[in-house]
This record gives sequence, structure tokens and C-alpha cells, in this order.
Amino acid sequence: RVSELSLASLELGPYNHFMQKEIHEQPKAIADTAEVLIDDAFHPEIFGEKAAEVFNDIHSIKILACGTSFYAGLTAKYWLESIAKIPCDVEIASEFRYRDVIADPKQLIVTISQSGETLDTMEALKYAHSLGQTHSLSICNVMESALPRESELVFYTRAGAEIGVASTKAFTTQLVALFGLSVTLGILKGHVDAAKQQSYLEQLRQLPGSIQHALNLEPQIVLWAQQFAKKSDALFLGRGIHYPVALEGALKLKEITYIHAEAYPAGELKHGPLALVDENMPVVVIAPHDKLLDKVKANMQEVSARGGELFVFADLDSNFTESEGVHVIRTPRHVGDLSPILHTIPVQLLSYHAALARGTDVDKPRNLAKSVTVE
Ligand code: G6P
Repeated sequence: RVSELSLASLELGPYNHFMQKEIHEQPKAIADTAEVLIDDAFHPEIFGEKAAEVFNDIHSIKILACGTSFYAGLTAKYWLESIAKIPCDVEIASEFRYRDVIADPKQLIVTISQSGETLDTMEALKYAHSLGQTHSLSICNVMESALPRESELVFYTRAGAEIGVASTKAFTTQLVALFGLSVTLGILKGHVDAAKQQSYLEQLRQLPGSIQHALNLEPQIVLWAQQFAKKSDALFLGRGIHYPVALEGALKLKEITYIHAEAYPAGELKHGPLALVDENMPVVVIAPHDKLLDKVKANMQEVSARGGELFVFADLDSNFTESEGVHVIRTPRHVGDLSPILHTIPVQLLSYHAALARGTDVDKPRNLAKSVTVE
């Protein structure tokens, strides 16, 4: 017992919870995961010996995953279609495995999983294989776990052990892997020239530093979290590639604070969720300076007009000013295509500190398990 306890406190170092430690480990986890992509300049063999052959044989991608890993897949769809120009579908593994699927042997099945042991993801992969879809890639954090063993290709994220039930560093490193996959395919399919390749490499090199800047926002986020802790509901909004960040933010809040939270692509507000908005509903907006920013600003107006209180994460280029009912935290300067990775950090911190304020068990939330190996 004694040794167990002292081991835990040793491993925690200066942190109070594994989740906090894991959030703060992200600059290193991301740098470690990006290392092979940078060193080998997106060479297909990073994904396995047969990868070039497999990648040349496919014309579309199907991503299968559960939970947070599913949201990594939703983000990847944007990169795969914009950078590699490959059609991509993303599906919840527990849905895919029970429906009639039109098998396509020229489609690459990509499973994403921290543990590599999630039963639904595993069964979905086996189902795809049974239908004659042999091309598969596992993006996984645990060496030699079930999913990589079952897959034709594998990329290991290098997040290190993740103990907190709510996934943090596994998610952001999955995103790095999926970005790497998109660029690798883009090069192979002739959609990424040498100059673009250099700029993607540079974006990856800069990312750990930008993540560190985002972590430095913690004191400001703590103040917001104290307000959130008193709420019973919250709404998260994003658009385009930042919509999955909103989904992940809402999931984190639900998982560890037990506050009811929902995420919407901001353009959908008027089709329902606007009816929920009043002065008691905090609305978190992921609003970096991208091509949809003006649209997001118009959506925020809709919230303000109904008395909703806005909590906006906006990067330095977004040009937001605080006003009555509009709180703004400025995230680091826009980091290009990798912006969803950067903007995940503040929503993780928000949930973590709201959970602390509510006194919930951050690392082991009620009713949840780290790895779900049952139906
Ligand atoms: C559980 C965990 C989540 C995780 C999900 C998928 O629900 O609590 O954090 O995202 O399983 O797990 P996987 O290991 O497949 O990524």
C-alpha cells in the first residue's frame, strides 16, 4: 500500500492529478509524436513497410473510433479532404459494426484508439476485414495492443502512459498522427508540392512551443472555470475544423464535471439550440481567425441578442474586444492547419478547473472506464 501510494505521488511530480499532469505533458508528447514525421519528412514507411503500396491502392478512407478518438477522426476528415484530397468518412465504431456496409476494397480503414483495446473499435475493424476490406491502419498509443496487431499498417502515438480516464494528450497526439497521415498521402497523390511540404514541417516544429503558450493561459482559464462550476448546462460552438474541438470541449466537461454540455456547429444554432440560450447558459466559442470567423461572429450576435453569456477563445489575429456579456481569452497567434490541436488545450483546462471547483473525482469520473473492453 505504502509503496503504491508513494509511487503515485512520485509519478504525479508537482501535479495534483494525472489529468493535470497529462495536459501539461502535451508539448513533449506532441514533439515526440511529431519527431518521426519531421525526421523522415512524411515518408510513407513511417506508417509501415507496406504503406506506400497500400496508400497507392486506395481512393478513400473510413475512420472508425469511439469517444474522444472519434473526435480526432472528425478533425482528420478536414485535413484528409483539404490536404490529400481523399474522400473521408468518419463513423462511430459501435454503429458501423452493426449495419449493412457497402464494402470497398480500395478504401483504407483507419482505426484510432488510445488503448488499442476498445471492443467496439476492434469488432468494427474485424467486421470490415470480414467484408473483404483488407487495407487498414491503426493509430494507437499502446504498443502491441489488439488493434495494431489486427491492422495492416500502424502508427504509434508517443503520448506515454495516459492514466486519467478523460483523454487529453492521447487526443492531441492522435491529431498530430492524422495530420502527418494527411500530408503523407497528399505528397504521394501529388497534391502537396515541396514548398507546401516544408511549410507543414515547419508548422509541426513550431507546434510544441505554441502549445506551451496555450498552457500559460491557465490562470485566466481558472477564473472562467470558477463561473462554470456553478452552472448546470453549457453550450460549445465552433465551425469548420474547429467544430470537433467544440465537441471535445463539451465531452470533457460532461465527463469530469457532470455538467450537461452540448456542442454545435455554430451555423446550426438557429435550428434548435438557440431556444436554450438565456442568461444562465454559458456559451463557449472556439473562434480563431479562419475563413469562417465572420460567420462565427454573426452567430455570436445571435447569442448576445438573447442575453447569452459568451466565453470566447480567439487567437491574436481574430480581433475580438471584451464587452458586456462577452469574455475573451486570447490564444497564441494562429498556427495554420494545426489550430484545432492548439485550441484543444484551453477547453481541457476549462474542464479540469471546473471539476476541481466542483470537487469531482477528476481522474476517475463516476460510471466511466479508461478502456472499454465490453459491449
Ligand atoms: C473510453 C475513455 C475515453 C476514450 C474512449 C475510447 O470511453 O474514457 O477517454 O476516448 O474510451 O478509447 P480508446 O482507447 O479506443 O481511444
